[in-house]
Amino acid sequence: MAVSRLSYAIEAGSLALPDIGDIAVFRPAAGCDISALDKDRVEIIQGCYPDHHSFQARGYRVALSAGAQYGAAVVFLPRSKVLAKVLILNALAVTGGGPVIIDGQKTDGADSVLRDCRKRGAQIGDVISKAHGKIFTISGGDFSDWKVGEKTLIKGGFQTSAGVFSMDAVDKGSAALVAALPGQLKGRVADLGAGWGYLSHHVLQCEGLREIHLIEAEHDALNCARINITDPRAQFHWADALTFNGGGEFDHVVCNPPFHTGRAGDPALGRGFIGAAASLLARHGILWLVANRHLPYEQALSDAFHEVKEIAGDGSFKVFRAAKPRREKRK
Ligand SMILES: C[S@@+](CC[C@H](N)C(=O)[O-])C[C@H]1O[C@@H](n2cnc3c(N)ncnc32)[C@H](O)[C@@H]1O
Repeated sequence: MAVSRLSYAIEAGSLALPDIGDIAVFRPAAGCDISALDKDRVEIIQGCYPDHHSFQARGYRVALSAGAQYGAAVVFLPRSKVLAKVLILNALAVTGGGPVIIDGQKTDGADSVLRDCRKRGAQIGDVISKAHGKIFTISGGDFSDWKVGEKTLIKGGFQTSAGVFSMDAVDKGSAALVAALPGQLKGRVADLGAGWGYLSHHVLQCEGLREIHLIEAEHDALNCARINITDPRAQFHWADALTFNGGGEFDHVVCNPPFHTGRAGDPALGRGFIGAAASLLARHGILWLVANRHLPYEQALSDAFHEVKEIAGDGSFKVFRAAKPRREKRK
């Protein structure tokens, strides 16, 4: 494995870490190498289910939110700028003003975060540029103008929170899927990658629905869904859609699959969702899926279903109805 930016900078002596106190590590992705940090002092703060459980499996202490006091913190920059601000503010708060190590790709805004920290008078240690990204330490500074609300109320009266998918407005693709759904969806329905609950909210208005299961990896998004949906037929699962065991077969799956892993577009994740949907559905079950027009899901759909039809769409989106799943059922 290539030496991570964090290991490189620590081994080069460019990052000053205190000798005592726990180290809060915010949002490291599953494969992330943090071996240069003393494992006994590390607490991972991670709300994304697969990443959370990957660190747990590696023997780390893992939490959903930070505790009160740490000697230092590391923030791995997420794609969302708003979430980056929330994490950096949180890291500064729980370390009493630092030191906070910030590690990020250029494409995740590492340069602009560095500029923003300088503008706010933070003391900045060595800045290491490596592997298309930057790592540096900040302490102090006046970040009061960054106080972003962690929760937002958007048009339609839905609650969202910093960094969740479609935090500012309903996603156009999801709206296209809702418009194409039939008025009746009978039985047991799964919403794979449910986010803050937009699709489920609409599916609950369909005739004949018995229960809907919202499966979502991001803990914050699922918490918003719990606020947005109070119907007792809804059940909420903080889980990885790729490994979720539905506790029985589903009659329908609705899905606007994720198409990013970190900053990079990743249709493999969406294809994984299609396979997961097929294996969760009963023989008569139907998948209703929306995707950006350019994403290549047709092959995955026909590998997983006998009948695939594009039922709606425009230049930006395509909506599919896929029936008669081919996949083996999950054990
Ligand atoms: C394109 S968004 C759709 C969200 C919501 N259904 C909507 O229509 O607004 C995809 C969602 O899948 C979630 N997600 C990503 N990877 C996941 C995984 N492995 N398991 C479950 N959910 C995942 C993301 O956090 C995101 O909320």
